[in-house]
Amino acid sequence: MTETMSLPAGLTMAGGVLALGGAPLDRPLAALRTLEPQASAFWAYDLDQIEARAARFRRAFAPLRARPAYALKANALPAVLERVCAAGLAAEAGSLGELLVAKRTGFGAADRNLNGNGRTVAEAAFAAREGVHSVNADHAAELDLLEREARAAGATVRVALRVNPGIETPGHRYVATGDDAAKFGIAPAEALDAWAARARWPHLRVDGVHLHVGSQLLDGAPLERAAETARALVAESAARGAPLSLVNLGGGFGVDYSDAGAEFPLERHAAHLVERFGDLAVEWLFEPGRWIVAPAGVLVAEVLWVKERPGPDGATRRFVVLAAGMNDLIRPALYHARHRVVPVRPRAGAATPAVVVGPVCESADIFEREAMLPPIERGDLVAILDAGAYGAVMASNYNGRPRLAELTVTGGRWTRARAGEPADAAAGRASEDRLEG
Ligand SMILES: Cc1ncc(COP(=O)(O)O)c(C=O)c1O
Repeated sequence: MTETMSLPAGLTMAGGVLALGGAPLDRPLAALRTLEPQASAFWAYDLDQIEARAARFRRAFAPLRARPAYALKANALPAVLERVCAAGLAAEAGSLGELLVAKRTGFGAADRNLNGNGRTVAEAAFAAREGVHSVNADHAAELDLLEREARAAGATVRVALRVNPGIETPGHRYVATGDDAAKFGIAPAEALDAWAARARWPHLRVDGVHLHVGSQLLDGAPLERAAETARALVAESAARGAPLSLVNLGGGFGVDYSDAGAEFPLERHAAHLVERFGDLAVEWLFEPGRWIVAPAGVLVAEVLWVKERPGPDGATRRFVVLAAGMNDLIRPALYHARHRVVPVRPRAGAATPAVVVGPVCESADIFEREAMLPPIERGDLVAILDAGAYGAVMASNYNGRPRLAELTVTGGRWTRARAGEPADAAAGRASEDRLEG
């Protein structure tokens, strides 16, 4: 960490120690080891920061009378969801599992919506029986399945059709979801035909359009283009006798993973939308995930080893091997994402280059190729910043590695909100069940 590095809100350097939510990050590991003796890394989330960000998001879009539904896929820890719920956000689920977690955490039927491009009978049945605000249908044939389940439950299910608007977004192609190459949604013309034919599905209220064009967007232009597409579709569908009353613009609001102050301009963008689209007589829905939780979480890991080796240019390269790996935080390996790595208790001395890696047997298991770190030793702790979104939820048991504990902090006090797995967790899931037929 450099003298001038700015930290995400909620993180501070106090008395030479990195703190989250006012609580020093060098303390919880010893306490965690009383419950999990093998623990050498953990996730930590600042619940007050999460609630504050959720409330700020809701306030920003209040002039549009919008409903923000937090995307559980970013971080579905129940303790996190409770705070998001307390801030007045609804829940956006992408699977039956996420619907069940949302329900269990206290999101009522009117505060759940369902996404996904592989709709299952079980998801459709849940939506019909238990109730949701709306389902985003990825294609028209899905409507027959939803209709069948809604009829069986004697319910009406509201549906928005996910449209692929052919909008390119910057960033890694794996987080682009609204361009022609993306697997999501149907062509605008097909959606218009389905809205016009909606009487075919008497147990569905097919009156919405859903557009989610990508993630980690740092300016509002692609989202405004999506809103323009929505406006054109609302007008065209009304002209065909099928007025729409729900526009869901999805998520995508990006955060500043670097030190460049480049976070998505939330309030400015919201004001822009109000100015340009406030006249549309529709209900607006947004599905923020990353923006709510990413900066409020860190992955803390012990330094297992420090080794040096000459690089191709002859200069010595310093490798810092952490107790956390790509199986814990896969974003750098999967998306070439960069996260800042900061010593929890920085030692005195000049910062020099370091390659920060994990212990997994893969060359992709690298957190940061060009970190600038002060002297660091075996047993020190480092924090990988902005790890609150798409972190623990994407963790795996690869290399026979157990998933890490998830801790929360509020009012300066730590809680283990999810236990880490025991070392034999990956092997422990094997079974030998004879299958007949
Ligand atoms: C349909 C949908 N909505 C919302 C989100 C949340 O996106 P983000 O975390 O970028 O806000 C995603 C994530 O990719 C998504 O697929």
